[in-house]
Amino acid sequence: MPSGPHSNVPAGVWDKVGRNLHLQRNHPIQIIKSHIYQYFARSHKDMQGMPLFRTYDEFPPVVTTTQNFDDLLVPKDHPGRRPTDTFYVDQAHVLRTHTSAHQSELLRRGENAFLVTADCYRRDEIDASHYPVFHQMEGVRLFAPSELASFTAEAVLEDLKRTLEGLVRSLLGDVPLRWVDAYFPFTHPSLELEAFFHGSWLEVLGSGVIHTDVLKLCDRTDRIGWAFGIGIERIAMVLFDVPDIRLFWTQDKRFLEQFSDGNISNRFKPFSKYPPVYKDITFWCPPGFHENDFCSAVRDIAGDLVERVQVIDEFTHGKTGRQSRCYRITYRSMERSLTNTEIDELQQNVRTHVSQELRYELR
Ligand code: PHE
Repeated sequence: MPSGPHSNVPAGVWDKVGRNLHLQRNHPIQIIKSHIYQYFARSHKDMQGMPLFRTYDEFPPVVTTTQNFDDLLVPKDHPGRRPTDTFYVDQAHVLRTHTSAHQSELLRRGENAFLVTADCYRRDEIDASHYPVFHQMEGVRLFAPSELASFTAEAVLEDLKRTLEGLVRSLLGDVPLRWVDAYFPFTHPSLELEAFFHGSWLEVLGSGVIHTDVLKLCDRTDRIGWAFGIGIERIAMVLFDVPDIRLFWTQDKRFLEQFSDGNISNRFKPFSKYPPVYKDITFWCPPGFHENDFCSAVRDIAGDLVERVQVIDEFTHGKTGRQSRCYRITYRSMERSLTNTEIDELQQNVRTHVSQELRYELR
């Protein structure tokens, strides 16, 4: 457990390191991962008829800031680098925020087609679809001139679109898809794929043509290619009808027993939802206040009993210009009924932490 002056990894997050849901048999995250591996194994073969894409799913989550940011041309002042957004182990190491952190080392090794699945970590808001740990899969394909009709970004894009549309349809069925312009520092052009599923447009993955400066850094200027990153929880939630991201971390058999390897067509049947408990907390925001700091503290104290943290009221004092915010914390267990006493105690711990550690002035 890192504890130096530059570390901001709470125990509750560090506990998740090594859980590796993407390696756990019959777990929904693992099921989606295997499905995607199989799609690639079927659709992309080498000259010997063997799967073209090599798969990696055991890279440890602590990476250097060079791997996570610099090698991917992330600007020095990019918000993603800030300790409000990223878990730092020490000044030079982070818990990876995306699987793209492994692109460059594999490209330098000379790999041309690979998939990397891993647990990723981000400081974020708290609601049914955000959790400080989640899983991503990265895919990268580099082409030699002889492998493309023309050695151009257009030809790469065409291959990317065909491959990823096929991938998404293999998961979600024959749904409407659309490509949307996006920005990532390490791809150009960059685009996101959205799918119309259960009545709304869902952002499924980020992708693009690998930036020539990334290829230069990796000494691979003889090739061009594409990369994509897909969030596995998001797919698993819509595909299996899982209403809350915390369920992926439960040990409750009533959840886990509903899934089996190789089966992506079953839907989660919710067991009875336990009642929520709401608690409000109001404080003056100090200068430089960042919501993620508050959310992290709540998560740290309440663990998986916190379902949602939302602002329900805010105002700015006319004379002092100070901002006051009222947050509503929703507590609910996925597994049992909560008692008033235990929630009162948690809420008291939140209040104490907020005033004494974060030094926010409670109202
Ligand atoms: N790493 C990006 C993210 O986490 C996704 C991505 C991967 C985009 C590869 C382009 C290419 O949002």
